[in-house]
Amino acid sequence: MCGIVGYVGSGQALPVLLDGMARLEYRGYDSAGVAVISGDAVTVVRKAGHLEELTKELAVMEVLGSTGIGHTRWATHGAPTDGNAHPHRDCSGKIAVVHNGIIENHDVLRARLIREGHSFSSDTDTEVVAHLIESIIEEESCSLISAVTKAVHVLEGAFALVCIRTEEPGCIIVARQVSPLIAGTAEGMGLVASGIPALLAYTRDIVSLEDNQIGEIRAGSVRLFDFEGDEIPVSTVRVEWNLEAAEKGGYEDFMLKEIFEQPQALRDTMRGHFDRQGRVKLDDVHWKPGVLERIDKIVVVACGTSYHSGMMAKHSIEHWTRIPVELDLASEFRYRDPVLDDRSLVIGIAQSGETADTLAAIRFAKEMGATVIAVTNVVGSSITRHADAVIFTHAGPEIGVAATKTFLAQLVALNTLALYLAQERGSMSRDKMTETIDAMNALPEQVKEVLAIQGDVRRAAKRYAGAADVLFIGRGVGMTVAMEGALKLKEITYIHAEGYAAGELKHGAIALIEPGVPVVAIVTGQKLYDKMLANVEEVRARGADTIMVAPRGDERARALANELFEVPSTKPLLTPVLDTVALQLFAYFVAKEKGLSPDKPRNLAKSVTVE
Ligand code: F6R
Repeated sequence: MCGIVGYVGSGQALPVLLDGMARLEYRGYDSAGVAVISGDAVTVVRKAGHLEELTKELAVMEVLGSTGIGHTRWATHGAPTDGNAHPHRDCSGKIAVVHNGIIENHDVLRARLIREGHSFSSDTDTEVVAHLIESIIEEESCSLISAVTKAVHVLEGAFALVCIRTEEPGCIIVARQVSPLIAGTAEGMGLVASGIPALLAYTRDIVSLEDNQIGEIRAGSVRLFDFEGDEIPVSTVRVEWNLEAAEKGGYEDFMLKEIFEQPQALRDTMRGHFDRQGRVKLDDVHWKPGVLERIDKIVVVACGTSYHSGMMAKHSIEHWTRIPVELDLASEFRYRDPVLDDRSLVIGIAQSGETADTLAAIRFAKEMGATVIAVTNVVGSSITRHADAVIFTHAGPEIGVAATKTFLAQLVALNTLALYLAQERGSMSRDKMTETIDAMNALPEQVKEVLAIQGDVRRAAKRYAGAADVLFIGRGVGMTVAMEGALKLKEITYIHAEGYAAGELKHGAIALIEPGVPVVAIVTGQKLYDKMLANVEEVRARGADTIMVAPRGDERARALANELFEVPSTKPLLTPVLDTVALQLFAYFVAKEKGLSPDKPRNLAKSVTVE
């Protein structure tokens, strides 16, 4: 998320910043800004919209100076406006900061700093950092690097911070906790960035900051320190990638990169929602008084892949809260004359936040008096303005047209909401809540284990890339996975695929089975395991080839599988988070086998803004 660039040297900073920002714009493109030290002031120019808007603004200005920082934003806190764009400054205007990540305790820090007399001009978590550094410098009369070293102990969450100060031109101070940051030097310059593409034009020798490190970047030098202020050795790695490969982080396609980013997307989406006492927190969701007690039904509306995350949510919300849940395709919802009133909670899910049908559905729900909560990946998107409250997935920008990491992030966000409702309504025991939270926290590492079976998935993809039809079957939440697996396959490989409730097969679809037809069966749910295996036997008896998504070490599944995707075990309701990853990889590798571009499937758009 977000692109960061910093330059310090003997030349002009601005052209280098803009060049690097253009190369990182794919990481975030809702606003952009630069800060350059010009004499004893910092000139800051920020603009909502694509980088082009900022470039136009700068074309009629003279921003001179040889130390500067720039940022292309993917909003997480505060809408994508000029005022919320980075860099952010302290009260004196002498310190400027850009940031990638999420400062979880920004609320507490902001309140403290306001009490101390600081005034804020944006809604961002980042501005807190500028004022915090200012307050430390005021109190201790110290250097920027000392203040940053102190500040990192106060900040909670994830951050890549890049800071400059007018009193210390010729120097950029950076800090990393979780969010990526790299640095490098070239003839007469020092550089820092959030991604390799920004540096490749100047150097291929990259210093990659590790977690909990602070860097001091000057023309021709990079020094590193730990969070205690002790200097540590610097080592560089030589990057041989070309520019396009660098933008994709070395992956062949954005879709594959985004599939591999899923552990981080899950971590970022869950961050701050579960406290050490096993309580679920939704601090940014402000419910109208009495709403939580009043809800007697929940309606989920969404399209496409988001609809599939809604299918899973129906299972977890009903199981954990005992509130009945209806699920509607957003394009159908308002035309079926649904029954809604002020006791209804409507959950609208849209990764883009711009899907026309979903927006129309939630507008309709509000007119009927329902409370509307949105789940989206895009801060400032239309859905955030129409809903009463918003839960953000923090998956970062998704460039591949087929939704992957946003889907997984939706699953955990919706489960978080379900757990929160259960907690507030007292419908779940403490022990079960704690167990479930532990299982959720384990998911990012377990997704990594699924990613590690890519060799098995690639082999199966090679074997079945020539199929004309593929059937996906599952039961319970496994049906969600079947539907999503089928959608991924059809949209990027153009193979006809259907997701089906396994129990429904014998009411019609089983007629499609003939020798060699691949059937993907999801057999991870414990409750319906035997019934699923019986359905697998049925299709095998009619000649189908079976690709099984099964718990690791499951010998019964192995015996029935032509190809086996083994996944780690988790709580039954969380299985879609792991199972789906195998099927995303399957669709991806089939597309590659067929020589198709997974990132840009025909006829599709990333956000569907017409009905
Ligand atoms: C499939 C896909 C689409 C979207 C659908 C809804 O991979 O991406 O089916 O899920 O167009 O989009 P959002 O979530 O933006 O409402």
